[in-house]
Amino acid sequence: MSTLPTIAIIGAGSMGVAILSGLLAPSVTVEGGIRVTNRTEAKAAALRSDTVASYALENDPGANITAVTGARIVIIGVKPAMVSDLLREIGPALAEDAIVVSVAAGVTISTMEALVAQVVLRAMPNTPALVGRGVTGVSPGSRATPEDVALALTVFDTVGQVLEIPESKIDALSTISGSGPAYVFYLIEQLTKTAVALGFTWQEAATMVNGTFLGAAELLEASGEEPAELRRRVTSPKGTTERAIWELEKADLSAVFDRATAAALARAKELAAG
Ligand SMILES: NC(=O)c1ccc[n+]([C@@H]2O[C@H](COP(=O)([O-])OP(=O)(O)OC[C@H]3O[C@@H](n4cnc5c(N)ncnc54)[C@H](OP(=O)(O)O)[C@@H]3O)[C@@H](O)[C@H]2O)c1
Repeated sequence: MSTLPTIAIIGAGSMGVAILSGLLAPSVTVEGGIRVTNRTEAKAAALRSDTVASYALENDPGANITAVTGARIVIIGVKPAMVSDLLREIGPALAEDAIVVSVAAGVTISTMEALVAQVVLRAMPNTPALVGRGVTGVSPGSRATPEDVALALTVFDTVGQVLEIPESKIDALSTISGSGPAYVFYLIEQLTKTAVALGFTWQEAATMVNGTFLGAAELLEASGEEPAELRRRVTSPKGTTERAIWELEKADLSAVFDRATAAALARAKELAAG
C-alpha cells in the first residue's frame, strides 16, 4: 500500500498515462487527488474520471496553472523541447513545498533549477511502466531532501522497479533500460524473420518467438538464477544450442551492445547541447 500527496501530471501523453495507470492501482491512495493536463480535449476527456481531474489547454489556457496549484508532486511529461517554457509558465503557481519531477530526456537538473525555486528531480522510466513492469532511474537535484527523494521513488514504484542514481549516470541508464525495450523488440523481430525463413507462417513464428521471450523472462524471474546458468541448462555439450550460441558469440553481441549504447549516449549529449 502506498499513500501519496496531491499529484499533477503536466503533459499526460504516453509516459504520463503510464505513470497515471500506476497511481490508479487499488494499492495506491493519492490524498488530495490527481490532476492531469494535455493540450487537446480529446486526450483530456479520455483520462477524466471520478478520481482524475483532467484538463485541456484548448478549453482553458490556464489549465496547467490550475493543475499545479496546491499540488505537492508535479510530474513534467511534455516533450523535452517544451520543458523550459512550461516551467516558466507554472513556476509562479507552484507550491513552496512542491517537488518537480521531470521525465524529459536530456533536460538537466541545473536547467530546471534555474527556472523554478522548488525541489527538482529527474526520472527516466521505460515503456513497460504501462504494464506495471517499468524500470525507472531517479536522480535528485541539489535541493532534494531524503523525504523528497522517497516521495519520487514511491511514485515510480507504482509502475515497476526504481533505482536512485546520480544525474551523471541517467543518460547511461537511459541507454540500457530506457532504450532497452526497443532492443528486445528488435531481437524479437529478427528471430521472427528467421522463423519465417525456416518455413513457418508469421502467426506461427510470432507464437514461437514472443512466447519464448516472455517465457524465458518469466523463468529468469521465477528461478532467481543467473541468465548464464539458465542458458547453460539449455545448452547440452556438443548439442544443437551450443552450435547456435557459438555463431552468436562470433558475432560478438557484447561489442555490438557496447557500440549501440555508446551511440545512444552520444546522441543524448547532442540533444542536451541543443
Ligand atoms: N515514451 C517513452 O518511452 C519515454 C521514456 C522516458 C521518458 N520519456 C519522456 O517523456 C516525455 C513525454 O514523452 P511521451 O512519449 O509521453 O510524449 P507524448 O505522448 O507526446 O506526451 C506529451 C503530452 O504532453 C501534452 N502537452 C504538450 N504540450 C503541453 C503543454 N504545454 N501543457 C500540457 N500538456 C502538454 C501533449 O498533449 P497533446 O497530445 O494533447 O498535444 C501530450 O499528451 C518526453 O519528455 C520524453 O523524453 C518518454
